[in-house]
Amino acid sequence: RDSVASRGLGDVYKRQELKQSLHNSHLFQILRITMTDQNATDQKNANSLWGGRFEAGPSAIMEEINASIGFDKRLYAQDIQGSKAHCAMLVKQNIIPAEDGEKITNGLDQILQEIESGNFKFSAALEDIHMNVESRLRELIGPAAGRLHTARSRNDQVATDFKLWVRDVALADLEVGLKGLQEALIMQAGTHAETIMPGFTHLQAAQPVTFGHHLLAYVEMFGRDRGRVADCKTRVNENPLGSAALAGTPYPIDRHMTAATLGFDRPTANSLDAVSDRDFALEYLNAASITAMHLSRLAEEMVIWCSAQFKFIGMSDKFSTGSSIMPQKRNPDAAELIRSKIGRIVGCYNSLMLSMKGLPLAYSKDMQEDKEPVFEAHDHLGLCVAAMTGMIADMKVFTDNMRAAAGAGYTTATDLADWLVAELGMPFRDAHHVVGATVKLAETKGCDLDQLSLDELQGIEPKITNAVYDVLTVEASVAARQSFGGTAPVRVTESVAAAKERFLK
Ligand code: ARG
Repeated sequence: RDSVASRGLGDVYKRQELKQSLHNSHLFQILRITMTDQNATDQKNANSLWGGRFEAGPSAIMEEINASIGFDKRLYAQDIQGSKAHCAMLVKQNIIPAEDGEKITNGLDQILQEIESGNFKFSAALEDIHMNVESRLRELIGPAAGRLHTARSRNDQVATDFKLWVRDVALADLEVGLKGLQEALIMQAGTHAETIMPGFTHLQAAQPVTFGHHLLAYVEMFGRDRGRVADCKTRVNENPLGSAALAGTPYPIDRHMTAATLGFDRPTANSLDAVSDRDFALEYLNAASITAMHLSRLAEEMVIWCSAQFKFIGMSDKFSTGSSIMPQKRNPDAAELIRSKIGRIVGCYNSLMLSMKGLPLAYSKDMQEDKEPVFEAHDHLGLCVAAMTGMIADMKVFTDNMRAAAGAGYTTATDLADWLVAELGMPFRDAHHVVGATVKLAETKGCDLDQLSLDELQGIEPKITNAVYDVLTVEASVAARQSFGGTAPVRVTESVAAAKERFLK
């Protein structure tokens, strides 16, 4: 009784829309679109757009599994953009009459308005955004609408729409978001070029570093992510339109013209490949996955840093939550959610990869499953990048706590070894051994390295002098690491300036 089949499709779609709108960062797109569905029982007739050889319409279940309008309505702007470019080309090539072309173009403009103002009635019976738009066009302008689909198929149409969306929405949004995040990190790095914190390996205190240096590490990661976005943009930018169903078309079309109109670099070279390629979506999802991985690492560090045991940073009220039972709690929920989202985003990548695996050429309906993972990844990643940007920009940095922790755990032991090499000419391996004995002594005494007396140090290595104390402080340790790309404040200040040039221009 409560099965999908017995429920009205209207219900199903309302539910889907609710789900989708909850996950949708482009709320404006969704809120303006009201989904009004005819109930399956009103849909007994064959589909008017392709139903020439059909006597009956699909079962409600068939309609539900087949329809993509619930999610691909997000492609409406790209669909109309592609259709207008196609129409202009058909007119220029004398394939359709200019008067019909004008009617089509005006009709498409009106449809765009109807959708954006929430006055468009989407229908699941019409399967997808392409047929919803075309069917409305027929209502608006009559038989001339039938000429729009000359020399194209939904196969090249959907590939074109989706490429435009990935290029102009997904990749463009990610690029802007990553740049904003880098800006927040670079600003904090500039403020904290001299702030000393422990650097870790194996999450054990290793050597002191500057907080600015640590933050700039993430600027590099997000910079590579932007590189992947830019790289993806070069390959996405070939126009499938005009490949038709799979084999091309006998009409004298001008694919270079539509490519130029839609801002593509060139038409795709092979019609079979053009309609069955979803590499661009996979590349986006792959880049998104790597970005999500970077975000999860930074999020994890923030969770650790804001714990009472570390207290390196404090999250602003804007990005913290409380506990309903423990009044003292301030929880880093946003960071935890960002840490987790990678699972979902890699899941989207896996989902599309497996949809594509083993598909014979050319188009198969499996490929309709390409859109939801991309939309989902885009929406969640957009939220993560925005939340991380806010958290970084707003965080309080407890420099005293960082400084105190930086010295704990004998983090200047390597500096002592380097001093023995530089000042006493000792081979590094021997120096390593001497420092090991020194750390052991400090450990038994329960003190830091610079709290050992000269006598005690000379008991281990007689040639050690008073000058050694100069290298045992965390300040001396970071200041000494001036190698290119090193943590010394002077290098960090330079790197901040360089990062502004490289990433924020
Ligand atoms: N809704 C379809 C999709 O997203 C459009 C292409 C349909 N093509 C076809 N031959 N049925 O893939």
